[in-house]
Order: sequence, then structure tokens, then C-alpha cells
Amino acid sequence: MASPKVIVTRKWPAQVEEALQREFDVELNRTDTPLTPAEMKGALGRCDAFCPTVSDSVNAETLSAEPLRAKIIGSYGVGFNHIDLDAARARGLVVTNTPDVLTDCTADLAMTLMLMAARRAGEGERHLRNGQWTGWRPTHMMGTKVTGKVLGLVGFGRIARAMADKAHHGFGMKIIFHDPVPPPAGVAGALKAESRPTVEDVLREADFVSLHCPGGRETRHLLNSARLGLMKAGAFLINTARGDVVDQVALVDALRRGVIAGAGLDVYEGEPRVPADLIGMENVVLLPHLGSASTETRVAMGMRVLENLRLYFAGKPPRDRVV
Ligand code: DGY
Repeated sequence: MASPKVIVTRKWPAQVEEALQREFDVELNRTDTPLTPAEMKGALGRCDAFCPTVSDSVNAETLSAEPLRAKIIGSYGVGFNHIDLDAARARGLVVTNTPDVLTDCTADLAMTLMLMAARRAGEGERHLRNGQWTGWRPTHMMGTKVTGKVLGLVGFGRIARAMADKAHHGFGMKIIFHDPVPPPAGVAGALKAESRPTVEDVLREADFVSLHCPGGRETRHLLNSARLGLMKAGAFLINTARGDVVDQVALVDALRRGVIAGAGLDVYEGEPRVPADLIGMENVVLLPHLGSASTETRVAMGMRVLENLRLYFAGKPPRDRVV
């Protein structure tokens, strides 16, 4: 029997591409150029498994491909707000993602952003590299202490909990959170994390607010101007979730007017565009969506897609089925 045909939309770590090729008839993207909507539609018509990633918009129009040969969308990434799940369901497609394996690295990056923003690390590095450093002095580049402060988590899923663990046990931080879905019994207690009834309660109390809710219609602009206005004047906003959870125009305004002290961002509305206003601000740390970007994690994510495809084509339930 011929191997199932798999189309991968972007370049994956070599180790994963080789493993995929050992088991399937794979069409790789050697140039790493993003596929156009028409190319994605065409791919759905000539493969059994379509493997996009979080920067490919797999919307209803793309999923209207006729004829449709694909049976499974094995997405590379944990977030799935780039896929129209209703349209996929309507076309009888199975959709999988890659949870768990990126939890620690994404939480590590949220910690990185929190520490960098609070301690002015990006600004300090620019200062030194630009030849502006004139030497140690008591009032030079004073930032904000992190250890012992209150970390407020919006969403308390896997990545938020991993951040809570690092922040509480490593930095003695008090953890508060809001999540409409309560965590499994015992999880909050182990981290001495306290639940708050609303997002607003978290925003009012936290010294650092880190976003960990999914993207999509329901959370779009959750952090709007009114909610940013509830944060403490000395507080920092950290976003490793999805760009559209924050109203970027409102954030720029809040940063400019000193409503909050600073921000650490890994994700943006309309990536890869980043507003010039943010780029011009010294109290903002800006990273290019690096949450899961360690070699170990990116290989593990690819292997998780492979495992999902392997199970699906063996007639078994894929491990990470979303639809
Ligand atoms: C994801 O997987 O959803 C991240 O945003 C990319 O690592």
C-alpha cells in the first residue's frame, strides 16, 4: 500500500523532516517561504495529511478546497486559533496540535520577558553597545525588583502553571490567577496560588501580569484600555499568549501615559508587523514570537505531529485531537 502523502507548509527541524520521510511520502518546504492561500487550498486537494503551523491562516475559504483529499490537519504548535475549527469539523477533518512539549520553554520565555522588562535588560544592553555607558553609579538604570512580588496570571493552564512554579519556587513570588475553568484539585495549592473571581481582580493586585489565555474571538482585546487602566502604575504586562488578546493601540497609549510601567511582548496583533510606536519605547522588551524556540522543544513539537499522524493512519485515536 502506498504511504499516506503529507504536506508540510514550513521548514521543520532536519531531524523531524528525516523522521517524517522514513514513514510517509512527504512534500517538504525547502525554501521556508509561506504558502499562499491558493497554495494551501491546492495542498489540501492533493495530500492525506496537511501540516501547517501557527502562522498559516487555515480559514474557511482555504478549507473549502474541492476536491478535498486531506483527512487530518496535523498542526505544528499548541495554539489553534489560526484554524477555523468549525469549518474543519464541517469538512470531516481531524485536527491535532502539539501541547505539553513546549510548556517549559514558553514559561521560561515569559520569565525572561518579566525579568528583562523589570530590570531594564534590553535597554541596558542597547546603552552599552551604543557606547553610552560611563561606569557604575548609584542611580544608574534603576529598575524594579522581581523577587517577592505578586505575579498575576490571566489563564491558569499548563504554561501559566509552569511559570507560577518557576516564579514561586525560584523567585519567592506570590501567585494569583483567574481562569474561568478551575485547575485540577491540588494544583493551585501546590503552588500556593490563589484564585481571583475576575480578571479585573488580578489586574488590580498584581505587580506583573502575564497572559496565558488562548487567542481567538472570545479573548480578542481582553486587555483593553479600561482593563489596562486597572493595573498598578508600577506594573508590567507580559504577553507570550497571542497578540490579539491585547488591544495594541490601547497598550501603546497606556505605556506612553505611564498608566503601566512597561511590557514584555513575544506576540503581536498582525504578526510579523510590530508598531513603530512600540519599537521606539525603551520600557518595552520585544521578542519575535520565540516562546517555544529552543532546539529541543522544536524537535519535540515536530515529533509530536509525527506521532499524531502515525496513530491516525494506523486507525488509532491521535493523542492530541482538537477536532
Ligand atoms: C504555539 O505553539 O502556539 C506557539 O505560539 C508557537 O510555539
